[in-house]
Amino acid sequence: MSSIQKKVTKPAFSALLKPLDIGFVQLKNRIIMGSMHTGLEEQWFSLRKLAMFYEERARAGVALIVSGGISPTFSGRLSPFSSQFSTWFQVAKHRRLVEAVHAHDAKICLQILHAGRYAYHPFAVAPSAIKSPISPYTPRALTGRQIRKIIEAFANTARLAKRAGYDGVEVMGSEGYLINQFICSNTNKRTDEWGGSFDNRIRFSLEIIRAIRRSVGERFIIIFRLSMLDLHKEGSSWHEIEQHAKEIEKAGANLINTGIGWHEVRIPTIAAVVPEAAFSWVTKKLKQAVDIPLITSNRINTPELAERCLLEGDADLVSMARPFLADSRFVQKTMENQTQLINTCIACNQGCLDRVFKHKRATCMVNPRACYEGAYPLTQSGSRKTVIVIGLGVAGLSCAYYAASRGHQVIAYDAANPGGQFNLASEIPGKEVYRETVRYFEAQLSLLGVQVHRNFEVGFEDLRDIFADAIVFATGVVPRMPDIEGIDHFSVMDYASAIINKADIKDKVAIIGAGGIGFDVAEMLVAKQQEDWYQSWGIDKQYANRGGLLTEQVKQQLNQHGKRDVYLLQRKNEKPGKNLARTTGWIRRLTLRRAGVTMMTGVRYEKIDDFGLHVVHNGESKTLAIDHVIICAGQESENTLYRQLHDIGQPVHIIGGAKKAAELDAETAIREGMILAYSF
Ligand SMILES: Cc1cc2nc3c(=O)[nH]c(=O)nc-3n(C[C@H](O)[C@H](O)[C@H](O)COP(=O)(O)O)c2cc1C
Ligand code: SF4
Repeated sequence: MSSIQKKVTKPAFSALLKPLDIGFVQLKNRIIMGSMHTGLEEQWFSLRKLAMFYEERARAGVALIVSGGISPTFSGRLSPFSSQFSTWFQVAKHRRLVEAVHAHDAKICLQILHAGRYAYHPFAVAPSAIKSPISPYTPRALTGRQIRKIIEAFANTARLAKRAGYDGVEVMGSEGYLINQFICSNTNKRTDEWGGSFDNRIRFSLEIIRAIRRSVGERFIIIFRLSMLDLHKEGSSWHEIEQHAKEIEKAGANLINTGIGWHEVRIPTIAAVVPEAAFSWVTKKLKQAVDIPLITSNRINTPELAERCLLEGDADLVSMARPFLADSRFVQKTMENQTQLINTCIACNQGCLDRVFKHKRATCMVNPRACYEGAYPLTQSGSRKTVIVIGLGVAGLSCAYYAASRGHQVIAYDAANPGGQFNLASEIPGKEVYRETVRYFEAQLSLLGVQVHRNFEVGFEDLRDIFADAIVFATGVVPRMPDIEGIDHFSVMDYASAIINKADIKDKVAIIGAGGIGFDVAEMLVAKQQEDWYQSWGIDKQYANRGGLLTEQVKQQLNQHGKRDVYLLQRKNEKPGKNLARTTGWIRRLTLRRAGVTMMTGVRYEKIDDFGLHVVHNGESKTLAIDHVIICAGQESENTLYRQLHDIGQPVHIIGGAKKAAELDAETAIREGMILAYSF
């Protein structure tokens, strides 16, 4: 062994990979796969697909998996057909799932989640009959007897979970669900023993823990997911959170996990705009108050960040949820110190949460195999084929990667550098992390020996007589220029040029097109340098007020408009950004509104000239005196060469934007790349 090799003896992630003893059980490392309701929990007869999803992560070394939230009662279901675990005949199907995880020496806890007033059905119940702003159903106020029955139902589910072989349960006490609704005074107006004083309001959570402990005995993990930062005005104060945490420990919990925010609160907690590890300071703040280990959570997406949280004493364990959708072998690659091969979660929510909210199965934009492990197994293809991929945007990268990983010989070309539209996206503030997807695919292509030709413009002559089993066109899109008088004026530029030349953009700008790219460009133009992210969203890290919020007065002082005058215009007479994703659209609209962006809908564009952009709005002619007009009016597919080769009978395929230039849909593009590669 050389002297250099000898020096590298200390594992790179020594804190993260260190076991943790919690008395009767040892966790083999400090990495927890956080709870994610995937939509696979709802299968009637078996949890086979969910078992495959968990097993792939367990095999790759995760210490503990927390299941998606499952209700202990009918009223607590998130929607009428979502999952509930309350009868003995469900034990067998859970047991098979647990066995799949235990086969790889990993632990698994069942999360028990009662939705309370967030239940999306008319049978919703809550401490008081107060409707949530995000549900159409007013809940029924629980009677004292019904409260006792729900406590017993939590204990019953835990008992059944133990019978099925689970190592423990996580009690969901955050994010604004039922337990949280008992704790906070805005949702709990009761005057009996379950309402009024803080002691009364936390009684429900403590009784649940005690009842579970009584029903499962000592050697069973109880995690309590505690809302450490409610982010609303009537949320808990810091003093109350400490008091609650101490009581949770006394009541018999083994671990406390971190919950941040309520679903109804309009402050981002997991989107890409949230800084990495943004909330580990809250977990750290609680460490002095309790002796049991604490788990930190939210936006921790790399082993380096997780290691840092542990080394800085923020927590004893790190929960990562979406990173396990993005990469099933996150822990294994961490153990092997191969972090450049980790497919990093880019916090887009497009493949996961946005799909779950539409009652679709969760997956991952950057890893479309997630939750589809059975349909796309990690196996080699029967015969080795030669595959040429033209265009290495994310569709091409995905196709090249999956084809090569299935044993095919892949040769790839890009007219510039790999990444395509993701390279542009990564220039938008808050989307810098999109670079990681390109880094990941490039690292994989290099490992798999794919020949990548950069800055190589492939022409008809190059491909006319070439032999290949498949030629894949992933040539992407070009910006579409609308037919407006003066579109060639020097003040006009397309979105790609605007992003590349952002430093040269002056102060008065009109953006034509208020879809995803229009929003991206507007966000780029109004982004403030050096802004404190917490302050900009009204979060007080000093925790002086309830819910961890700044006072309205301080918030208003901070909400000063940026220096640019930006108009975001659209032809359609509908809400700007109507089709933006559910979990992030509101953040984007709010950001632009607060930055003073003028949004105009139902606009008719007359012409562009030296005086500016001439429009008709609300029946009135206006001239917007601007320095630049940026066109974000969609894209056109780039597929001329594909059509030429198709006509002469070459074995061509087309994917991504080159096939259909919809609003940049990277999720479809990456999935199409994978599906095509599996067909070879
Ligand atoms: C698809 C999806 C489903 C989720 N379902 C649950 C759930 O059932 N219970 C829960 O406590 N948290 C749930 N979460 C939240 C995660 O546990 C986690 O707090 C959040 O994703 C932030 O952590 P991350 O940045 O590591 O993903 C879900 C998250 C996602 C993306
Ligand atoms: S879809 Fe986006 S947010 Fe969800 S896991 Fe994948 S990369 Fe992360």
